Amino acid sequence: MRVLGIETSCDETGVALFDTGRGLVADALYSQIAMHAEYGGVVPELASRDHTRRLLPLIQQVLDAAGLARSKLDAIAYTAGPGLVGALMVGASTAHGMARALGIPVLGVHHMEGHLLAPMLEDAPPDFPFVALLVSGGHTQLVEVRGLGRYRLLGESVDDAAGEAFDKAAKMLGLDYPGGPQVAKLAEAGDPGRLRFPRPMTDRPGLDFSFSGLKTHTLTAIRHLEQAGSLDNQARADVARAFEEAVVDTLVIKCRRALDATDLKRLVVAGGVSANVRLRERLERECAKRDARAFYPRGRFCTDNGAMIAYLGAQRLLAGEHDETGIMKAVPRWPMDTLREP
Ligand code: KG4
Ligand code: ZN
Repeated sequence: MRVLGIETSCDETGVALFDTGRGLVADALYSQIAMHAEYGGVVPELASRDHTRRLLPLIQQVLDAAGLARSKLDAIAYTAGPGLVGALMVGASTAHGMARALGIPVLGVHHMEGHLLAPMLEDAPPDFPFVALLVSGGHTQLVEVRGLGRYRLLGESVDDAAGEAFDKAAKMLGLDYPGGPQVAKLAEAGDPGRLRFPRPMTDRPGLDFSFSGLKTHTLTAIRHLEQAGSLDNQARADVARAFEEAVVDTLVIKCRRALDATDLKRLVVAGGVSANVRLRERLERECAKRDARAFYPRGRFCTDNGAMIAYLGAQRLLAGEHDETGIMKAVPRWPMDTLREP
């Protein structure tokens, strides 16, 4: 089955072709980051308009790369949520329009379930069951995964997502959007011993996260340095380092607890923040200690992409799921624990 995947939930237009016999055949991405950077964050209306501009040429690009005529597609999957409603509508309406014209099934899928299964596109994918740490700009969740659609939420952020915290810390440090990679880069020059930030919610049991206090702590630290007249480049790097260490440490502590609580030996880490090198190094060490293994998507499939949507769509379409004819789905808020086995 050849499935076209379409991702337009936020600021990346992603398209891919997944063949259930051959695997991932082609994929393409257009990132709107440069356009939104000017405003310090995603501007929803600009995002929708740009998806409208980019999506059809990107679909053609993927079909050309695959050497496949549109008429040879067997099904289409698109991100139905969660995300920005206008942006989601672009993908949903394009997918439904094409599916109607071609007379093939179409299915709206869950963006975070896509991230969760992105490591399945790698050469040595994890077997079920596993613990998944989903860390993106909008979500921070620990999930016990027993199979496709068999998810148990173990814990989640009660306020900001980890990626959101990175983005806000970046802004405070005068860095561009999206902040995660920039904070990580600045942190490399930081002195790990100079400042120590709190590890929120790690002093009591449980698997929930909170990152808004850390944000306030970061702002206070920057103000103090500023007032003392010592906010130079080194001090900014020290703040970035202390911030990154605090987020990474917090995520690692909770992953350890989740592996203990479930008695599982496989950890999947996905979503934009899973690109963070320090997080990966720390999780590798943690897994090695307990004879466990960590799995990640390749770099470009950590952040938003069409490949994960094509893959997830293919699994659910194969199981017989599809949207009703003409019923587009665009669900801005869509809790993952409502997902079911196909
Ligand atoms: O999954 P994603 O592309 O979009 C959402 O679904 O949210 O994640 C984007 C988030 C942003 O907050 C970005 O700052 C963060 O992932 N991010 C990183 C890194 N690369 C991206 N955070 C920390 N370190 C990185 N290397
Ligand atoms: Zn995402």
